[in-house]
Amino acid sequence: MIYLIGGARPNFMKIAPISRAFEKHGIEYEIVHTGQHYDYNMNQVFFEEFGLKDPFVHLDCGSGNHGEQTAQIMTNLERFCFESRPDMIFTVGDVNSTMAAALVAAKMHIPLAHQEAGMRSFDKKMPEEINRIVTDHISDYLFPISPQDRRNLMNEGISMDKTFLVGDPMIDNLLYYTSQTNEIVEDKKYILVEIHRPVNTDNKHALQEILTSLSDLTPFAKIIFTIHPRTKKMITEFNLWEYLTDIDWRDPMGYFEFIKYVKGATVVITDSDGIQQETSVLNIPCVSIRDTTNIEYTVTYGTNVLVEVDATKIVAAATFPMYNEPFRNRFTDQLKHLNDGNASERIAEIIKV
Ligand code: UD1
Repeated sequence: MIYLIGGARPNFMKIAPISRAFEKHGIEYEIVHTGQHYDYNMNQVFFEEFGLKDPFVHLDCGSGNHGEQTAQIMTNLERFCFESRPDMIFTVGDVNSTMAAALVAAKMHIPLAHQEAGMRSFDKKMPEEINRIVTDHISDYLFPISPQDRRNLMNEGISMDKTFLVGDPMIDNLLYYTSQTNEIVEDKKYILVEIHRPVNTDNKHALQEILTSLSDLTPFAKIIFTIHPRTKKMITEFNLWEYLTDIDWRDPMGYFEFIKYVKGATVVITDSDGIQQETSVLNIPCVSIRDTTNIEYTVTYGTNVLVEVDATKIVAAATFPMYNEPFRNRFTDQLKHLNDGNASERIAEIIKV
């Protein structure tokens, strides 16, 4: 029995294709939900959209500071694993739930797998970087999504015997659903925005600078801004709602709706890892408000550009594709074999043995 750990929004797009592949290969698994994200549109909506099976257990850990949240997940998961010892704990991504579950597995000598291993921004100020490094160094099966990530693991001295370059399940999911529908938003020109990294939201100057850029972009295009709960909380705390007067802001969208909006966007502005990848595959220009990216190939082969927190630079980067030849996705030539929609299948083949 494998416990597939899910807790926060970006986990569910990875768990969905992996669970489909496990089912196809007759691999016994259950979803263990840590409860890191709990709002309907950060969590349950994905279970409904992807037809995920109900969690075997819900650990109800909720929000908290990093130590508090990680410790709560570890305490509750360890207790649960004492009662019902799984044969493997399978983690995805880089959120606190990922690292907490990895630590429990390693301490209880339960074989541990990590999908998205080796991804690095080389910025230890990002909580996700710590989560990735810790998880990778205690994992028994490592599944990087790109050759670069595999090289990162090798450079850190991790054995290549337990590292399997399989590709990206999140892209499996994207291809699976976009092949089923061609629906896009037939709207006028719009820029889609999703911002939630603490470095951009929890600092008043940074958040104000980003909101200024959005407000400055309104003469060029309609701005559709899906607001993550963290971002919403900080806009209120810093009293910045006046910047959103001319902006069409919404609560977080479900997957199908969000992808539909991505496909029709003139440009996407984000600080999310997953959206950098999805826009590159869909050939939609993406402006990432980040100093570094942990998915270098979206910049090298994809449609992604990095821009610092500076309103003028964000406006320049976001308007560039409106007047110039947009960047092209060269993924299909360079990384075709890894982004073929079968990464989860390859994971299942390896796990099954
Ligand atoms: C987490 C991940 C981040 C990921 C992001 C995607 C970590 C360290 N960070 O960041 O890598 O990109 O999820 O969304 O794991 N909140 C709600 N409802 C919810 C969930 C959260 O209102 O359902 C609010 C709470 O006030 C909470 C805050 O959002 O304190 C932040 O949530 P948290 O899970 O700590 O981190 P994220 O910013 O969501």
